[in-house]
Amino acid sequence: MSTPTNTPMRPPLLKTTDLQLAFGAVVVADHINFSLHEGERLAVIGQNGAGKTTFINICTGLIRPQAGKVYFEGKEVTQLSPRAIALRGMVRSFQLPQLFAEHSVRDCIRIAAAGKRGRLGLWTPLKDAVSADAVEHVLEMVGLAARGNELSGALPEGQRKLLDIAMALVLKPRLLILDEPTSGVSTDEKHGLMATIMAALDAEKVTAIFVEHDVDIVSQYATRVAAWIAGRIAADGTPSEVLADPEIRKNVIGE
Ligand SMILES: Nc1ncnc2c1ncn2[C@@H]1O[C@H](COP(=O)(O)OP(=O)(O)OP(=O)(O)O)[C@@H](O)[C@H]1O
Ligand SMILES: [Mg+2]
Repeated sequence: MSTPTNTPMRPPLLKTTDLQLAFGAVVVADHINFSLHEGERLAVIGQNGAGKTTFINICTGLIRPQAGKVYFEGKEVTQLSPRAIALRGMVRSFQLPQLFAEHSVRDCIRIAAAGKRGRLGLWTPLKDAVSADAVEHVLEMVGLAARGNELSGALPEGQRKLLDIAMALVLKPRLLILDEPTSGVSTDEKHGLMATIMAALDAEKVTAIFVEHDVDIVSQYATRVAAWIAGRIAADGTPSEVLADPEIRKNVIGE
């Protein structure tokens, strides 16, 4: 008798089943059934108020759905805290970077790492939160190594975005969810910013979801696109399929 050589199928990295949430009469999650596999680069598109950030907030434990479940690597995380979810490897960035403006770039990385390990006590020197090598590694990946001693609050927006990503990468995520990584950055700078982010994600083998309004960026950097309309996923497929869909062109891209 031969032994089976196939390894068992891995569960999706992220899966949601029938997520539902309404704020009063406004439905922001309308029966969302969604799966994401390792290695994907998923762009989430949708008009303002469509429910993109709400979806991220539900997946990362910031808000609870009224119904439905969230699974990460096959295990339910619906009721876990954002920190517990980050510890398991699902880390997010915010639409507006959440930096520690009064601290240096290098200390921002250390504070982020200390927060994960729960080791930021009164008597713990910040420099002990994470190894110096790990700090330099993430700063180099996003091109900020030369600015490590500068105040994070003084960085231009593009570099603030990159610092935010470095603060997420130091947590060694398996999945990084980026809420509008190119917002607030000039059109000229967007491609360079995305190229840097994607190279860092490739180097660290991190799967990613990113919310993005710019169709050029979506077609260049996503392997898959999900389009949100009024709390539901109206289309989900390859960039060429979804961006050519007449409903999406009319109601999401606004043509
Ligand atoms: N805590 C809340 N209480 C009440 N309404 C909320 C809350 N959070 C979000 N909303 C509403 O839910 C809807 C979806 O918001 P969400 O932030 O998810 O949209 P979005 O797709 O991320 O939009 P944008 O592109 O502007 O970031 C909006 O109408 C918003 O006003
Ligand atoms: Mg949003």
